[in-house]
Amino acid sequence: MKSRKNIQILGFLFLSILASSCGHKEEKYHSVNDRIKVEGKNYHGTSISSEAFLGDGEFVEITEGEHTFLIPERKGKIKLYACIECHSKPLKELQGKVIKKAHWNIELNHANSNTMNCATCHNSKDMNSLKSITGNKIDFNKSYQLCNQCHTKQFEDWKGGAHGKRIGGWAPPRASMTCVNCHNPHKPHIESRWPSRFNTQTEKERK
Ligand code: HEC
Ligand code: HEC
Ligand code: HEC
Ligand code: HEC
Repeated sequence: MKSRKNIQILGFLFLSILASSCGHKEEKYHSVNDRIKVEGKNYHGTSISSEAFLGDGEFVEITEGEHTFLIPERKGKIKLYACIECHSKPLKELQGKVIKKAHWNIELNHANSNTMNCATCHNSKDMNSLKSITGNKIDFNKSYQLCNQCHTKQFEDWKGGAHGKRIGGWAPPRASMTCVNCHNPHKPHIESRWPSRFNTQTEKERK
């Protein structure tokens, strides 16, 4: 009887020490951010790098607001680039010529035709660059700036890393896919599809 009581007292003591030590920590730092500020004083980043995981592709560095990161290079990936190999003359002169329908496969399925046509994004006088709504040049490697004009929300999310996908590892340098890596600018809607693995048996049973 007596020893059980002793154990109870010991337990109580132990718990109260535990409680008081937790309370002590809370007093020392007002918030988690304060704690990081003080205890992280001597932390100057990590020496670990994800460079080795970036693969062979080329990247370009961009700075948007307070974010600086790498995105995949595009011009080397576009088969028809450089455009001026054909677009050295006005469109009228090209139309109906031998190379007619050089890119007949491109069909616009994006915004409706009141809002958008080829000339919304391409400049027939300077086909090697994209064009903003106000007529400014946008480099093909920075086509996200084109999308940003109308999809600011997704752009802001992407910049911060909430929309899109990171390439390589968590360690610096940060490299992220750019809009056109996932969305075809001419047909940006992502088709819904089955998960890569689903139960085909259940599917049969449902029928
Ligand atoms: C092999 C030659 C060739 C190359 C390379 C080429 N084009 Fe063209 N492009 C044409 C021809 C020919 C036309 C006119 C087609 C027609 O209207 O029949 C045309 C028309 C266009 C038009 C106008 C379409 C319309 O209906 O108003 C755009 C925009 C365009 N090209 C963009 C590009 C861009 C951007 C590139 C580079 C990424 C490019 N082209 C590369 C041959 C080419
Ligand atoms: C919303 C903006 C936008 C519109 C509208 C648009 N394009 Fe493009 N186009 C782009 C971007 C961005 C790229 C580069 C994509 C990349 O990096 O792969 C591109 C690439 C191309 C290319 C070269 C790559 C390929 O797919 O062969 C051609 C040719 C082209 N566009 C023609 C056209 C024509 C013709 C039209 C009208 C029918 C058109 N574009 C409408 C944004 C647009
Ligand atoms: C001139 C304005 C404009 C530009 C520039 C533009 N878009 Fe769009 N986009 C629209 C409009 C309008 C819609 C259709 C409205 C909607 O369904 O929300 C749309 C729809 C979309 C959708 C949703 C399609 C769906 O139904 O799921 C995606 C994804 C998209 N755009 C991506 C892009 C990308 C990537 C770029 C840059 C290459 C771009 N857009 C450039 C105006 C624009
Ligand atoms: C890693 C691939 C990836 C990248 C990079 C990416 N997106 Fe998307 N995006 C998606 C997916 C997946 C969806 C969701 C489609 C759905 O819900 O049906 C989406 C949806 C959208 C939509 C439709 C509205 C919505 O939120 O559902 C817009 C507009 C859009 N993206 C624009 C952009 C723009 C602009 C960029 C670049 C700044 C971008 N995306 C970069 C994969 C990507």
